[in-house]
Amino acid sequence: MITSSYQAFNQDVNDLLKGVLSDSTYLENHLLEINSLLNGKASDFVRRTITRSNRRLSGIYFTDHKLAQQVSNLFHTLGESFIYCDPTCGAGDLLLACSENLPCGKNLSETLTIWGEKLYGCDIYPEFVNATKVRLMLSALLKTQDYDIKDIRALDKYFPNIVVNDGFEFLSKLPKTHQIRFVLNPPYFSLVPPFKSGWTKGKVSASALFVELCIANGKSGDQIVAILPDVLRSGTVYKNWRLWIKSRTNQYCLQKIGKFDKWTDVNVFIASLQIKKNIDTEELIDNIQAGMIADLISNETISDLFDVRCGLVVPGRDLDEGPAYDYIHTRNLPAWGEVKNFLERRGFYGTVFDPPFVAIRRTSRSSDYYRAVGTVINGSKPIAVENHLIVARPKDESLETCHKLLTSLRDVRTTTWLNERILCRHLTVSSVRELPIYF
Ligand SMILES: C[S@@+](CC[C@H](N)C(=O)[O-])C[C@H]1O[C@@H](n2cnc3c(N)ncnc32)[C@H](O)[C@@H]1O
Repeated sequence: MITSSYQAFNQDVNDLLKGVLSDSTYLENHLLEINSLLNGKASDFVRRTITRSNRRLSGIYFTDHKLAQQVSNLFHTLGESFIYCDPTCGAGDLLLACSENLPCGKNLSETLTIWGEKLYGCDIYPEFVNATKVRLMLSALLKTQDYDIKDIRALDKYFPNIVVNDGFEFLSKLPKTHQIRFVLNPPYFSLVPPFKSGWTKGKVSASALFVELCIANGKSGDQIVAILPDVLRSGTVYKNWRLWIKSRTNQYCLQKIGKFDKWTDVNVFIASLQIKKNIDTEELIDNIQAGMIADLISNETISDLFDVRCGLVVPGRDLDEGPAYDYIHTRNLPAWGEVKNFLERRGFYGTVFDPPFVAIRRTSRSSDYYRAVGTVINGSKPIAVENHLIVARPKDESLETCHKLLTSLRDVRTTTWLNERILCRHLTVSSVRELPIYF
């Protein structure tokens, strides 16, 4: 079992809890240890003990303290009768952050009772579920002066709603009596939906399915704050998911976060949604007919799909020296075409670019209609690029995506957007990065 090594971590956590309950000076002497256990040691432990490929296969990436707090602060007041629910709770980092928003009782047992009624969660791994409960208890201990519980076994009855279960099943059994604050950082691995999905039959990211099930099982007014992979916000494969979500929720915000953490090379965003009373089928159909889906839902920009940089050869400054490369500049590229044979070569010591990419002219004349004129650069060898060109390299490295960008650059909306964004005819790298994509 992947998490058997996690038993050692659980042993440490249990020992700390036992120590604090049995000896009044223990807490003071072990404060640093307890704080590190609540603020990141769980994910350090996972990284040290579970291989990268196993973590990816099982979707085990625990949220760091700062991001978890950012997520928990996005819930807004709904009145007294609400619960938090994390259907893939891992070692409880998101639930811990949410518990910060809960009141405490006058002693430990009262605090645990209040939190136990409000916090729902599950994970398929028992070791993680145990870690979640014990970490919540340690956090409650730090906030409570009066420890009226002395025996660790008495803690078994607290947190009855944090259990070992499959998250998809767990979501179908939630109480209907409370408003729910779904808090999610679900696994990102791909699977065929284990239920009848409203937007797909194929293999997709589990994260998209968890959000779907929260909505399907939730009620009007319930909130969802989820850390999700960027592909859900911008990938064409998830267009139907975005449509499905948009017709059933009010979108409060989509916040781009960048890399999940410094060890995990997956770009993520936070979606903050509230379930609507009625499905907006009319709005949905109108949007499809108007062809406005990409505009309204994805807010996709060039930087979502491309790495954008400036060409680096400065002709008057850089000598024709160093390794020889094919060389492109504004005068040897056909507008809107594709080039794979290059007529010029030059020496260059600086950074060169691997095709395929789109070379975009930085300047245009006031008489030109188009503001961002592009050429697709194909080929198999790196290319030296003059600094009057901007290079947009597709993250999926596909020629097809380059051609799509060319179509988008020719779209009337691109010219309108650029005319509003920058008055001078000189494009900056940042303006190109922010350009919406119209596929
Ligand atoms: C990305 S981690 C996030 C954990 C936690 N929510 C956090 O933010 O720290 C996803 C968790 O989902 C769990 N998981 C994977 N498949 C699951 C399933 N079908 N049901 C419940 N949990 C699952 C994994 O064990 C892992 O702990």
